Amino acid sequence: MAVRGATGGVRLHIVTGKGGTGKTTVAAALALALSGGGRRVLLTEVEGRQGIAALFDCPPLPYEERKVAVGPDGGDVYALAVDPEAALLEYLEMYYRLGRAGKGLKRLGAVDFATTVAPGLRDVLLTGKVYEAVRRTARGVPAYDAVVMDAPPTGRIARFLNVNAEVAGLARVGPIRGQADSIMSVLRSPRTAVHLVTVLEEMPVQETTDGVAALDAIELPVGGVVVNMIRPPLLPRAALSGAARGTLDRAEVVAGLRAAGVTAQVDKVTDVLLAEAAEHARRVKLERRERRALAMLDRPTWELPLVADEIDLGALYQLARCLVEQGAA
Ligand SMILES: Nc1ncnc2c1ncn2[C@@H]1O[C@H](COP(=O)(O)OP(=O)(O)OP(=O)(O)O)[C@@H](O)[C@H]1O
Ligand SMILES: [Mg+2]
Repeated sequence: MAVRGATGGVRLHIVTGKGGTGKTTVAAALALALSGGGRRVLLTEVEGRQGIAALFDCPPLPYEERKVAVGPDGGDVYALAVDPEAALLEYLEMYYRLGRAGKGLKRLGAVDFATTVAPGLRDVLLTGKVYEAVRRTARGVPAYDAVVMDAPPTGRIARFLNVNAEVAGLARVGPIRGQADSIMSVLRSPRTAVHLVTVLEEMPVQETTDGVAALDAIELPVGGVVVNMIRPPLLPRAALSGAARGTLDRAEVVAGLRAAGVTAQVDKVTDVLLAEAAEHARRVKLERRERRALAMLDRPTWELPLVADEIDLGALYQLARCLVEQGAA
């Protein structure tokens, strides 16, 4: 059962989850959902995969905010692929006014050092850019009403967001330290929510449970759990338990097939159908168990259906509508 949960007051929505469960899709749908009613939303990605461009069917995103969609009833979704190297040069320019010297640094390999050799610093640069977008104002009002981050997977999320610990060994004082502290204070505030995407299978649900514990441990605010790719049961409850126990009425299935005009190999088709029904019943039972495990987390839970066709803009609007209806945006 979906639990409603308001996310009012949240400005930064971080979307994580096990690989392949739909983080990028859900982040995009959430951005669309949040952009309703004329709001401006920024959708960001931080893993250099150009997943957003692929989803919105546009050319690779440069290191620059680009409008990718309009909200369901007005509003705009902008997108940005945050690149650690560009973020570092921008950062140095902002704090040290390095200008062309920044380009020199790049030639010297300092940028490579900072973005690949010191992974902690790399993460501060990535989250730092997103933090900057959250805090940015234009003529006294926030530049974006909400920022959504398509974040690294659950296994890496706590470490990725714990920028304070990450830079502890690198910088004890100075602007990097100060920047990490400011990012952390926003991440730990009620303005941030980390949402976890899962599907109703054992491993992703276990990762969700572990992810919530890891985020709790470092005091990062967990938002909702998005149960993605839900398939409704194909049989009514009584038939499901019959299918599971192997007690479905074979004669009834045969009669049904004949009524539907099937005349060839009716026996064989019936065997296949009964086996499939048993398999389906087993899956529905497993899904119920995973639902119970998710309910134990006691977080707002939002459910999204499995979309039959490829995920295009139309499907994203459909998923966005589901999120709005359940109070996620
Ligand atoms: N609700 C849905 N219905 C149907 N297909 C979906 C749904 N959500 C996601 N998908 C599909 O599942 C696949 C994985 O989705 P997506 O790329 O969003 O996952 P991800 O968690 O971001 O993956 P990765 O870990 O590789 O970044 C894609 O092909 C996507 O189109
Ligand atoms: Mg992705």
